[in-house]
Amino acid sequence: MAENDNLILAFESSCDETSVAVIKNGNEILSNIVATQIKSHQRFGGVVPEVASRHHIEEINICIDDAMQEANVSYDDLDAVAVTYGPGLVGSLLVGLTAAKMVAWAHDLPLIPVNHIMGHIYASAFNQEIVFPALALVVSGGHTELVHMPKKGVFEIIGETRDDAAGEAYDKIGRVLGLQYPAGKKVDELAFEGKDTFNFPRAMNDDDNFDFSFSGLKSSFINTVHHAEQINQVLSKNDLSASFQDAVVDVLVHKTKKAIDDLDVNEFILAGGVAANSQLRNEFDKLFNNNYKNIIFEKAPLKLCGDNAAMIGAAAYPLYQLGVFADNSLNANPGLEFEYKKD
Ligand code: KG4
Ligand code: ZN
Repeated sequence: MAENDNLILAFESSCDETSVAVIKNGNEILSNIVATQIKSHQRFGGVVPEVASRHHIEEINICIDDAMQEANVSYDDLDAVAVTYGPGLVGSLLVGLTAAKMVAWAHDLPLIPVNHIMGHIYASAFNQEIVFPALALVVSGGHTELVHMPKKGVFEIIGETRDDAAGEAYDKIGRVLGLQYPAGKKVDELAFEGKDTFNFPRAMNDDDNFDFSFSGLKSSFINTVHHAEQINQVLSKNDLSASFQDAVVDVLVHKTKKAIDDLDVNEFILAGGVAANSQLRNEFDKLFNNNYKNIIFEKAPLKLCGDNAAMIGAAAYPLYQLGVFADNSLNANPGLEFEYKKD
C-alpha cells in the first residue's frame, strides 16, 4: 500500500443484503463481502423487514472480519468508515450504521454518510471516473429515478416513479407467473424467448415531465392473466414476459432520452438492480451508439448492480475529498433524499 493511498471500510445494509467492503482510492475493490438473505424472504414473496434486521445482526460482524481479512489490511491502514444511512428499511439501516459508528469510534476514523442511491450511481466509478455534468437512471426494487448531477457532490432528482419501482413491478408480475422472488432476472430470461404480443400500456410516455408510472402496467398484466385463467385460456409466459419487458424498457429509454435532450450532459449512467436487465442494457447501447456518440455511456458492472458495499465505498471517496463527515449523532433515515450540495 502506497503512503498516499486512501482506504475506506464501507457498510451497506439498507435492505436484504449485509455487505462490507474495503475500497482503495474510490475505484479499486480490495474486498466486497455480500451476505444475501434472499432464501429467507422467498417463502414470503418479498422482503420482511423484521426478518431482514435479524439477519443483518447475525451477519454483520462476520462480514467485517471477512472484508478486513480478504483485503489483507489492518484498522491502522484505514482512512475512513463509510455507511449507507438511507433510504431503506429503518431496522436494516440501523444495524450497518451502528456497526460503522462503532468501528469509526473505536479506531478514531472519520465517518462518511452515504445515500444508497448515490452508491448505486457510483458503482460505475469502478469502470471510469464520472465525467460531470452527468445524468443517471437508477432502477431497482425500491427506486426508479432520473438523477441530474451538474457537478461532483450535487444531485437533483428530475424524475421518479409516481407509484411502483420498475423492479417492484418485475417482482409482482413474476409472482403472478409463479416465479420466485426476486423475479427480475427470470422474467428477463423468459422475455428473451418471447414476443411483444400483448402491447401493454406505456404510462406517462407522452407527458411533459421525466416521471414514470408502473402500476397501470402491472394491473393490466395481472388482469390479462386472470381473465385468461377464468376462460381456461393458456397464455405464453414467454410472450407475457416479453410484452411486459418491452413496455418497461420503452418508457425507461424514452424518458431518459427526453432528459438527455433537455440537459447538457457529458455522461449517462445506468445503475441499480434492474440495470442488470439485458434488454435495457442493449437498448441503451444502441441509443448511445446511434444518437449520442459524444456522450459517455457507463453501465454499473453486472456484479455491482445489486446492493453491495463496494459501491458505497466508491461513493464515499468524493465525499471524503469534499470533507463530508458525520458525527456520532448520525441516524438512519429511511426516506432520505439527496442532501449534498457542496461547491
Ligand atoms: O438494487 P437492488 O439489488 O435492490 C434494491 O435496492 O431494490 O435491485 C433488486 C431488483 C429486484 O426487483 C429484481 O427483480 C431486479 O432488481 N432485477 C432485475 C434483473 N435483475 C435483478 N430486473 C430486471 N431484469 C433483471 N435482469
Ligand atoms: Zn439498492
